[in-house]
Amino acid sequence: MLSGKKIAVLMGGPGSEREVSLASGKAVLKALLGLGLDAVAVDVTTTHVDLPEGTDLAFNVIHGTFGEDGQLQDALEALGVPYTGAGSASSKLAIHKSRAKEKFIAAGVPTARSETVSLSPGVIPELTIQVPLVIKPPLEGSSVGIQIVKVQAEVPGALLKAAEKYSEVLIEEFIEGMELTVGILNDLTLPIVHIAPPDGVYDMASKYPWLSGAKGSEYFCPADLDLETTMAVQAAALAAHRALGVEVYSRVDVLLDSENRPFVLEANTIPGMTETSLLPKAAAAIGISFPDLCKTIAEISLQLRS
Ligand SMILES: Nc1ncnc2c1ncn2[C@@H]1O[C@H](COP(=O)(O)OP(=O)(O)O)[C@@H](O)[C@H]1O
Ligand SMILES: [Mg+2]
Repeated sequence: MLSGKKIAVLMGGPGSEREVSLASGKAVLKALLGLGLDAVAVDVTTTHVDLPEGTDLAFNVIHGTFGEDGQLQDALEALGVPYTGAGSASSKLAIHKSRAKEKFIAAGVPTARSETVSLSPGVIPELTIQVPLVIKPPLEGSSVGIQIVKVQAEVPGALLKAAEKYSEVLIEEFIEGMELTVGILNDLTLPIVHIAPPDGVYDMASKYPWLSGAKGSEYFCPADLDLETTMAVQAAALAAHRALGVEVYSRVDVLLDSENRPFVLEANTIPGMTETSLLPKAAAAIGISFPDLCKTIAEISLQLRS
């Protein structure tokens, strides 16, 4: 159904995840061209999108700002051009960590206890969540602005620091455990990926070692978990994806505590799409090659939106 269709691979974007997105975009473009499809790269540098004449499908791999937050989806809908992945409404929900948590809680998706607090410079708000806790800006990705605070005496300083940049933060109970992520494709869960960061911290450096030269994480897929735990984690991830109404695909981040209880962190609606990214790794574990994954995403999306 894709033959004869012109596919514009939208990559880069104006946000902080631009370099990661360019890598995803190049990989997707190469895969689509390798399948003999008519694909072109579109490097998006502002919040203006110029699509090539006659574009039938926009394959969006712009992570974070603009590409993952519903803005690009709104623009493409205004242009009447079908696009891949989550729609505008679900993108806006998924990118907003506080609003997404509300949906998770309403749908009974297991997630860490949390509260959303307003911040203003120089003011230390009262918290109901105790240490250890995590302070998260609601609208960043790639671990940007995340502070893990384990000692009560360091809470005020961390909140003051957050208040310099953000007017609102999500405070979450810190979950000690395994870092997992679950790809969802067409409402089906892929095998679980277990991420083992080099020093236990999954941050910008260990996520994208090729950007900084830092030691990367180790990945195990399928994760070495018993059947019951595997099913509980996959069910939690799928429930999170559905609670947000995400279309086509996503990658849901989950923590597993020492009692094998899953806690959903977030759903990423524009997950990394290089050949070694986590969703492609999970797809490969059940025999879906990277080009097949790209093709499937394009086909389901086109079917949904044309
Ligand atoms: N409640 C939590 N308990 C323990 N670690 C957390 C918690 N929330 C986030 N983290 C750590 O921070 C990382 C990034 O958090 P996440 O919510 O996925 O935001 P993003 O990936 O968008 O920056 C996680 O992968 C995890 O390592
Ligand atoms: Mg995450």
